[in-house]
Amino acid sequence: MTAGSRILAMGHYQPSRVITNDDLASTLDTNDAWIRDRVGIAERRVADGESVADMATFAAEKALATSGLTASDIDLVIVATCSAIDRCPNVATRVADRLGINAPGAFDVNTACSGFSYALATGDHAIRAGASRNALVIGAEKLSDITDWSDRTTAVLFGDGAGAAVLTAVPDGEPAGIGPVVWGSTPEKGEALKIAGWQPYIKQEGQAVFRWATTALAPFAIEVCEKAGIAPSELAAFVPHQANTRIIDGIVKRLGLSPEAIVAKDLVESGNTSAASVPLALSKLIERGELPSGAPVLLFGFGGGLTYAGQVVRCP
Ligand code: UT7
Repeated sequence: MTAGSRILAMGHYQPSRVITNDDLASTLDTNDAWIRDRVGIAERRVADGESVADMATFAAEKALATSGLTASDIDLVIVATCSAIDRCPNVATRVADRLGINAPGAFDVNTACSGFSYALATGDHAIRAGASRNALVIGAEKLSDITDWSDRTTAVLFGDGAGAAVLTAVPDGEPAGIGPVVWGSTPEKGEALKIAGWQPYIKQEGQAVFRWATTALAPFAIEVCEKAGIAPSELAAFVPHQANTRIIDGIVKRLGLSPEAIVAKDLVESGNTSAASVPLALSKLIERGELPSGAPVLLFGFGGGLTYAGQVVRCP
């Protein structure tokens, strides 16, 4: 048993192909002003041949290179995704194979948009229990595969990408860098956002999901802080799931962050990338030097199914 784990390094990957709102308006009955006002997205990145496993591998490669560890140090790979087309082999084993990680525990987690926080908690728990020493935790999505590009109510929302974290056990006597998880679901409303069937498209009752996100979730985000023993006003940043700036602003209003706290709004340039959205946004903030080492950040994912999860982490 160890006292916990921390994030050693992060990495991310986004495809180079950019689709702007105007691009979408050339084939759909929509416009840039509606998408910016109602959702907050200006453009999104869409895979051009890359698979979920490709993007997960590229993000993990970067995180591993920054961490100072090598593939032989990693003994657990967890990938959060809801858009992998193949059910078996899972994405985690494909990433392990590509990175040359020998015989790791390897599994995928599917709780859609809250997936990264579920996977991060699971990696942290494995390290605390002694089942892993160093873990790779990845959120990766190719939502363009399961988006109905002729449906304006969903086609304007989604994008592709991946974010990854390398976790390691904290030495004895040092504080844990990943706080306790609060995770949960609202199963009775699960059908409001689904990816169902063999050749599915994402379907959602947008207003129902919006209402749930803006009314039910803030208390859980506050509970995450309580469990971590930190006041929301002490957070350096809030990195929520990147679905809608109006949802983010609604949660922020109820949180009580300090005016200096950074609120991630990566959806403006990335769209909603489901399980990838939180690690993607966090990795970019760290890469840009906006969050110093040790800075406390509240992660909070929510969406498909309907599920939610969050924890406070310390930046690498
Ligand atoms: O990632 C998982 C979690 N998912 C979410 O958090 C999504 C939550 N939901 C939302 O973010 C919002 O509900 C949406 C962004 C999906 C939709 O925004 P809204 O403000 O709830 O719009 P609405 O569905 O109420 O539609 C308002 C109007 C409708 O027209 P009428 O009936 O008022 O004439 C829609 O047909 O906007 C129309 N509309 C559009 N107009 C231009 C719907 N989509 C579009 C579009 N462009 N792309």
